[in-house]
Amino acid sequence: MELAKRLNKLPPYLFVEINQKIAELRARGEDIISFAIGDPDLPTPSHIIECMCQAARDPTNYRYPETAGLPELRQAIAEWYERRFGVTLAPDKEMLPLIGSKEGIGHIALCFIGPGDLALVPDPGYPPYSLGTILAGGEPYFMPLKEENDFLPDFEAIPGKIADKAKLMWLNYPNNPTGAIAGFDFFEKGVRFAQQHDLAICHDAPYTEVAFDGYKPPSFMQIAGAKKIGVEFHSLSKTYHMTGWRIGMVVGNAGMVDALFKVKSNLDSGIPQAIQYAAVEALRGSQEHIAAHNAIFQGRRDKLVKVLNEIGLQARMPKATFYVWAKIPQGNTSIDFTKKLLNEVGIAVTPGIGYGKEGEGYIRFSLTISDDRLEQGIDRLSSWHRRSK
Ligand SMILES: Cc1ncc(COP(=O)(O)O)c(C=O)c1O
Repeated sequence: MELAKRLNKLPPYLFVEINQKIAELRARGEDIISFAIGDPDLPTPSHIIECMCQAARDPTNYRYPETAGLPELRQAIAEWYERRFGVTLAPDKEMLPLIGSKEGIGHIALCFIGPGDLALVPDPGYPPYSLGTILAGGEPYFMPLKEENDFLPDFEAIPGKIADKAKLMWLNYPNNPTGAIAGFDFFEKGVRFAQQHDLAICHDAPYTEVAFDGYKPPSFMQIAGAKKIGVEFHSLSKTYHMTGWRIGMVVGNAGMVDALFKVKSNLDSGIPQAIQYAAVEALRGSQEHIAAHNAIFQGRRDKLVKVLNEIGLQARMPKATFYVWAKIPQGNTSIDFTKKLLNEVGIAVTPGIGYGKEGEGYIRFSLTISDDRLEQGIDRLSSWHRRSK
């Protein structure tokens, strides 16, 4: 048996090694507090689950769904974008529901990238942007996100020849893993840059509703001209705590949406309809839990960031996302430091290098653990710091 060579091009999946280590320690009876996974600990609101259960009992939902998604869902997505961002989208042409946004993020590479083609990808960044590019036969060209630039890419630093050759540019704000945010002026610059170099933009926006201190992140689709050159991926995972139900969407440029539809209609058979009805309920029903849950994350953020800075792990206060991106002391690699926290403190985080070369020197904490465990984790970090002084 011979596997395809493209698999050899994928870098080793670092998180697997860390997860194995956590499992090993837990099997030995160690109490590991994990700040490693960006999966909300808070429940899917009950009205959404109720709706899903009812729909699951309806025989019409036992059958294959359509790749295009239910008309009710497309209408609900259009209403949500209009209400939240003032963005008008045509339900029949300018959107496509996804089996979680990760699925669409991976597949859209097949629409734009062929052998040898380039995609501009943020570094550090959510790994599927570069891995999808590689699986499609292309190469990522990494745009460094530097702290001194507020973790925004510097479009001017990208050589003209590279920008002209590239087919696609990935952006993601509010950002995983840095917690950085971007304003209208940045997105406007992005649209101008894409127009100059004939690039398509994919903006990945699953965290627009996880925001603090009264901040309301914008949508890329609010920018004039965005729909001519780009799409936005969004998700119900983080807003409605539906990571396990797997539902998201892509909206924007009708040609790009149609290209993704062509790929998907040949590879998958849509999203289970009971989950689509739950998504309609999520998008149209009460949104009250969003502010309540953000208040919980904000409280956790405040406690964690304070302690991290006290113990010398410099961290900015993120205005959105449930991630805290902390700088580790010089002289450590992010993997060594992650192992040290695991072995000496019983705390799991993700090493910055797992998000790209520019992530070296950082670790990521996720605020998606219970308040009790977060408090215990913070106490452990403080006493470890006192001991090691
Ligand atoms: C930046 C980013 N994009 C996309 C996703 C995927 O979300 P979904 O659950 O919709 O596949 C994640 C999940 O962690 C993410 O952090």
